[in-house]
Amino acid sequence: MAEKGTLQDAFIDELRDTYDAEKQLTKALGKLAKAASSPELREAFESHLEETRAQVDRLEQVFESLDEKVRGKHCDGIAGIIEEGKAIMDEDFDDATMDACLIAAGQRAEHYEMAAYGTLVAWAQAMGHTQAAKLLQQTLDEEKAADEKLSGLAEDGINQSAADAGYAERDEEAVPVASTSRKRAQKSARR
Ligand SMILES: [Fe+2]
Repeated sequence: MAEKGTLQDAFIDELRDTYDAEKQLTKALGKLAKAASSPELREAFESHLEETRAQVDRLEQVFESLDEKVRGKHCDGIAGIIEEGKAIMDEDFDDATMDACLIAAGQRAEHYEMAAYGTLVAWAQAMGHTQAAKLLQQTLDEEKAADEKLSGLAEDGINQSAADAGYAERDEEAVPVASTSRKRAQKSARR
């Protein structure tokens, strides 16, 4: 009977998966940046692209610290998330709505990565891979910061601009009842 796999085997497998995910993201983030209308959002994607390139290098250091060959294994999870992001970019949304959707797509990727790195850090710690755990924690912190930055951009204006663009379009269609009840809703929201 074949020997059973260990947590170390699962750890290396997960590292390969994550290495491939980061590489896929270096291509996808450039596309998200190009599709963004808000200069702040474009800048956020571009700076995370730079960070992601450094994260690829950092994962190579992790492999080296473990005396493992640097190797990726196709990550189906992030591939699916990237596919969904591409489908959004093909939609015909107004600029603000597209930005809100790009943030949603970017945050899906960030949360996927946060889950992966959270697991990797915990497993590295459990197995006493101190150097690997430290490097992986650095990336986990960067992913969390990138996620928070996107939340900030959404909540500080992009979501509201998108909502207002929708209202403006509806108002152009001149539906007085809907418009009146919306104003009432806005008034009560402000209270
Ligand atoms: Fe990353």
